[in-house]
Amino acid sequence: MKILVTGGTGYIGSHTAVELQNSGYEVIVIDNLCNSNADVIDRVADISGKKPEFEKIDLCDREGLQKFFGKNSDIKAVIHFAALKAVGESVQNPLLYYRNNISGMINLLDEMLKCGVDKIVYSSSCTVYGEADALPVTEDSPIKKAESPYGFTKQAGEQMLFDTARVNDFKSCILRYFNPTGAHDSALIGELPIGVPNNLVPYITQTAAGIRETLTVNGNDYDTPDGTNIRDYIHVTDLAKAHVIALERMLNGKNIEKTEVFNLGTGRGNSVMEVINAFEKVTGLKIKYRIGPRRQGDVVSIYSDTGKANQILGWKAERDLDNMMLTAWKWQKHISEL
Ligand code: UD1
Repeated sequence: MKILVTGGTGYIGSHTAVELQNSGYEVIVIDNLCNSNADVIDRVADISGKKPEFEKIDLCDREGLQKFFGKNSDIKAVIHFAALKAVGESVQNPLLYYRNNISGMINLLDEMLKCGVDKIVYSSSCTVYGEADALPVTEDSPIKKAESPYGFTKQAGEQMLFDTARVNDFKSCILRYFNPTGAHDSALIGELPIGVPNNLVPYITQTAAGIRETLTVNGNDYDTPDGTNIRDYIHVTDLAKAHVIALERMLNGKNIEKTEVFNLGTGRGNSVMEVINAFEKVTGLKIKYRIGPRRQGDVVSIYSDTGKANQILGWKAERDLDNMMLTAWKWQKHISEL
């Protein structure tokens, strides 16, 4: 059965392509390669023993996308990752985010409807909850005004799916990720930040590898036990497996609502200092860090209530923070040697 993975050469997309192939699905990837490399397809093949089909296409290229769907009328469902995801960049260049993430998704949904592809798994984010009033956040927690254009594009994507399903025979599974980290056990695929990383774990691993001199902890005066922000870090392989389960729920007609939403996290909150300490413990390395000012737009604490995903999807994150740090470090060593 052929599944289209948009953004399948990216971080979460590539791990999901592996899990899909391991579960017997035929994967076809499209990606505009603006933030990734086509070599990833070969690494997915090395891991899973099968090379996914690949075409370089930008979702903003309507004609290209039309031709693609015309040629691939056997696509049964879509897992949609292709999007830009840097919060700061989105503040600097909002229209780039609106065009890429929103217009691109409109084009994708248009083609799906035209071609009768009626199932999509959508890559959303805990960013839609903003600064939550109560923790842990459940799927019913209120959606707050977006803190960034990036966050707004994720909210808009969710809304488009709800609205599309109201008037079409169309099913979606919206997955709200908390903080994805770690890498595949093989160390052949992982997160490949271009330039200076924005995210905590790539910054830690690059500091340990000597690429960055000092990690800046963005504030230690928050109202948390050690003063640093709390997030729910989740291993990318756990996340990838959840996509296969979400897809199969729709393929097997098990979904109760046309548009369903699930939080994907571990349910545990860890502070920035706890992440640094876990990295130091499992690698035996010391991270040089300094305490800097708060980062604009950061929420104080957020972690997920995983009850709905556990009970309804029958999915539970299996890997702990130590494993996330070990695999992230293994991956960093691999890319430093390339
Ligand atoms: C953000 C987005 C999330 C998005 C993710 C991927 C929000 C609220 N969250 O997560 O939706 O999916 O990026 O791009 O928009 N930190 C440091 N030093 C650093 C880097 C980070 O102390 O050098 C701290 C941050 O201040 C934060 C924590 O580490 O407290 C995690 O930051 P990060 O990895 O950037 O993820 P989020 O901002 O939580």
